[in-house]
Amino acid sequence: MERILITGALGQLGNAFVKNFNKTNSYLLATDIKHPKKKINCDFEILDVLNKEKIDLLVEKYKINIIYHLAAILSANGEINPFNSWKLNMDSFQNIAEVSIKHNIEKIFWPSSIAVFGTESKLSLVSQNPSMNPSTMYGVTKLAGEKLANYYFKKFKLDIRSLRYPGVISTKTVPGGGTTDYVIEMINAAKKEKNYNCYLHKDTELPMIYIDDAIESAIKLMSIERKKISIYGSYNITSFSISPKKLIEEINKNGYKIKVEYNIDSRQKIADSWPRKIDDSKAKNDWGWKPKYGLDSSIKKSLND
Ligand code: SER
Repeated sequence: MERILITGALGQLGNAFVKNFNKTNSYLLATDIKHPKKKINCDFEILDVLNKEKIDLLVEKYKINIIYHLAAILSANGEINPFNSWKLNMDSFQNIAEVSIKHNIEKIFWPSSIAVFGTESKLSLVSQNPSMNPSTMYGVTKLAGEKLANYYFKKFKLDIRSLRYPGVISTKTVPGGGTTDYVIEMINAAKKEKNYNCYLHKDTELPMIYIDDAIESAIKLMSIERKKISIYGSYNITSFSISPKKLIEEINKNGYKIKVEYNIDSRQKIADSWPRKIDDSKAKNDWGWKPKYGLDSSIKKSLND
């Protein structure tokens, strides 16, 4: 039986993974650094992912065999204190890896990001393995994690599986300090008939994925035989690309009005170093990745969620 531990369970991805696993027969232990505001339908423990002893204790106490390690400081927040960002993202990765090796954890899911690329990566359409020089500490930590995943698999057969998520669109949680947050913020503003102050240029295009596809793809990747996995770091994955201007058009098309002003801030520089489009053919070929939601349906669904 799957006995799953999730870190960062109250975040954007965590929240959706918890809902998904609650519908299955798997045992689920949700953990986060803070207490949930609403009741969640599974066991919950407070966990600071920097506390290796506590991870060890929980894995042992709840007989965990699968971990979804989602806790992280995202791109824009990471730039406020890069040292802190490295510490949280990397020390937690190491803690999870060490405890997992000790307890023979079967599989780990760990999200990487489009932040691993950089201006050297041919951003019009990034391939799986271009030259990478991330522009943010977040991207540096994600690329380092990918290299560690590859290393631990070869050295210890530790099975870490990973996807390079583009911007994840979900209106269920408050955006958490990322560069792609504007999509969620603008959709939420449209729903409340509020004006929106956009921090990216109207034509800045970035790749996106709808939350249900983000979850489905991870579940699929976690369910396949390891031998089907040809990428030992992290798979490129995407659904569609969108700019603020295009998003306004989509919002209008769905019958919502929104007035947007542009106040470009430091996140523009981050977005300029990220891909416009992504080649995810490896994920398609290796394990049949296919998004259910495209541009139209993702925005429509988010407006109605
Ligand atoms: N959505 C994330 C961010 O903007 C990308 O991984 O930081």
